[in-house]
Amino acid sequence: MNNPIIVALDLPDPGKAFALAKMVAPFVGAFKIGSELFTAAGPEMVRQIRGIGGTVFLDLKFHDIPNTVAKAVANAVRLDVQMLTVHTSGGLDMMAAAEKSAVATAALVGTTPPLVLGVTVLTSMDRDGLSEIGCPTDVPEQVTRLASLAVKAGLRGLVCSPLEVRDLRKILPPKFQLVTPGIRPNSENLNDQKRTLSPKEAIQAGSNWIVVGRPIYAAEDPIRAAEQILASITTP
Ligand code: C5P
Repeated sequence: MNNPIIVALDLPDPGKAFALAKMVAPFVGAFKIGSELFTAAGPEMVRQIRGIGGTVFLDLKFHDIPNTVAKAVANAVRLDVQMLTVHTSGGLDMMAAAEKSAVATAALVGTTPPLVLGVTVLTSMDRDGLSEIGCPTDVPEQVTRLASLAVKAGLRGLVCSPLEVRDLRKILPPKFQLVTPGIRPNSENLNDQKRTLSPKEAIQAGSNWIVVGRPIYAAEDPIRAAEQILASITTP
C-alpha cells in the first residue's frame, strides 16, 4: 500500500516548514502546502519539497471565475504539483475548466496531470455554519449535492470529512480518490475540527489519503507522531 498520510505543513515560517518536511519525510506520503505557508513562502516552497522528492498537494482551494481558476491550475501544473484543490461551490463550469486545464497543461509540459480535488463542505462547518451562509441543508445532503456536481464536471477526486466517505462511495465512480482531513489520533484533542475519525478508521472507511496537520506539526515530537500514525494504519 502507498503511504496515505499527507502532512499539512500549516506553518507560517518557510524554514521551519521545510525542516519539518525533511524530518517526517520517511513516514508520510505527501506534503500539503496550504494558504498560510504559500502566502509566506510562495512557489519556492513547492520547488524545495519537489527537490527532496516529495509529492506536493497544493491546497489553495481555488474559487473564482473559470478562466482565472484555469490559469491558476495551469501555473500549478508548471510548478509540478501532484494534487490541488478547488471549491466545488465554485460551480460546474469552474470545476470543468480546472480539470481541463490540468490535463491540457500536463500534456503540454509532458507530465502526469495532477489530481484536481473538489472541496465540498469544510470539516470545520456544521449544520449551523451552513445555515449562516444561506444554505439551510444538512451537511450530508450538501456534500452529496456538491460531490455529484464534481463528478459531472469530470473531477477525479474530492476532499471530504472521513465521516462522509462511506456514503459518498455509494454514489462515486469506483476509482474516485477521497482525501480526508479532520483526522484525530486522539478524540480528546479536536481543535476546531467538528467531524473527525482516527487515521485507521478513516482508511477503513475508504479514504485514499488522510490529511494530518496539528497532530503532527504541533506534536512535541513530530517524527514520533508521524511514525505512530503510520504504524496505526499499517498494523492489522
Ligand atoms: O491541523 P489539522 O489536522 O486540523 O489540519 C487539517 C488541514 O486540512 C488544514 O490544512 C485544513 O486547511 C485542511 N482542510 C480541512 N477541511 C477541509 C479541507 C481542508 O481541514 N474540508
